[in-house]
Amino acid sequence: MDVLKITGSKPLQGHIRASGAKNAMTKLLVASLLSDKKCTFYNVPNIGDVEITVNLCKEIGSEVKWDKAARTLEISTSELKTTYVPQRYCGSNRIPILMIGALLGRTDQDIIVPTIGGDLIGMRPIDLHIHALQKLGARIEYRGMKKEGAYFAQAHQGLSGTIITLSYPSVGATENTILAAVRAKGTTLIKNAAIEPEIIDLILFLQKLGANIMVDVDRTICIEQATQFHDVEHTVLTDRNEVASYAVAAVSTKGRVFVEGAEHHNMIAFLNKLREVGGGFHVRSNGIEFFYDQPLRAGLHLETDVHPGFMTDWQQPFVVLLTQAQGASVIHETVYENRFGYTHTLKEMGADIELFTQCLGGKACRFATNNHHHSLVIKGPTPLKGKEISIPDLRAGFAYVMAALLSPDESTITNVDFLDRGYEDLVGKLSSLGANITRLTIKKGEIPPIPTLTGVDSRALAL
Ligand code: UD1
Repeated sequence: MDVLKITGSKPLQGHIRASGAKNAMTKLLVASLLSDKKCTFYNVPNIGDVEITVNLCKEIGSEVKWDKAARTLEISTSELKTTYVPQRYCGSNRIPILMIGALLGRTDQDIIVPTIGGDLIGMRPIDLHIHALQKLGARIEYRGMKKEGAYFAQAHQGLSGTIITLSYPSVGATENTILAAVRAKGTTLIKNAAIEPEIIDLILFLQKLGANIMVDVDRTICIEQATQFHDVEHTVLTDRNEVASYAVAAVSTKGRVFVEGAEHHNMIAFLNKLREVGGGFHVRSNGIEFFYDQPLRAGLHLETDVHPGFMTDWQQPFVVLLTQAQGASVIHETVYENRFGYTHTLKEMGADIELFTQCLGGKACRFATNNHHHSLVIKGPTPLKGKEISIPDLRAGFAYVMAALLSPDESTITNVDFLDRGYEDLVGKLSSLGANITRLTIKKGEIPPIPTLTGVDSRALAL
């Protein structure tokens, strides 16, 4: 088992290069399965989720050449070896369900995507994916028992373009629908679609591949059937979650970090909130420099939202930043109903956080009447104590690393694999900024098991 040992209280100083976006690269690999053409990607992040997706594509039949040092990856799938997604890929991230959209128009076979267990399905709904694909003409059935089963999807009669209105602008459902629509006859309109930068990156890729796709200002995406496919070269956009993570780490440790490759236009909502709290930044021609400028002030009201709002994945590191700001702030999580489980550990480290089931904010969200803890009040500044910490999911994982970087004590962090899945070379990058962080491999029994906290978002593993 690998653990991180961190002793904090040092300002982070220096220069790092942002990696390609996890939430784009994984989808681009799936999108490459739409045709038999060769797709070459640049700026490919060397992270666990890309590794998992590459292996999944190889199972399906892809030939992949990944030069990790050069950050380039070539993939082509001249024929499908199977349309069955092995069970072991289901549950580690949200990619397998997108296989349905990518493969429906390419095969007469059933596409089979096992599920990971009844309880988790309940917490990770894919109803919007299924309804949209069915509306395009797919036949999708769930076969099996509550705990073990699989989705069987096919479109023997072909797919036909239609108008699909999503009841919520889900990122995954929008991507799945776009993928299927590329091979559906005629025109598909997705109304109330998600328009996250990673979706726009997917659209740019698909346009090169041969699709005609338009994005309207009112969240409508219009996809014309692609009749011809082409080889593609594509540079993956920068990971805005990684950029935001290092930005708050720099400011909260009273440091100064230049993040090369950070893209200003994808960070607007984040930068507004950073400035409101007193964090400094300079947008340069090739990236953004983040720095501590003055004592941080709270009094913030922050609502997570779909793009172009403040992204839900920025919320956890930002909460750690707010532990260092003077006064009280309110955060209202409107994207996920149960994404504050990680705050239990922050409280044990010294943070002053109270959770609420009400919508503390300007608007009532979808969770207004559901009794979920989805608002919080945080007061600062509070010193943070070191601790033995078990990571429950990717973004909470970075928040815990930040909290450890703010504490003068030593912290030991387990479940490091979550971080590996989304943060390229975390230890290398933080060390280069002066952090006192080491990664050790510990034999079973050398470290006592860290109890799992109740209330931690177990389903958030795939975010
Ligand atoms: C993606 C991102 C994740 C980010 C999220 C929101 C990836 C791999 N992950 O996740 O980092 O936090 O977008 O920006 O790209 N929902 C339904 N029914 C559905 C689908 C979703 O009710 O069929 C709900 C979810 O439970 C959640 C909300 O919609 O409450 C947002 O989910 P969605 O936008 O689909 O997120 P993901 O694509 O899973």
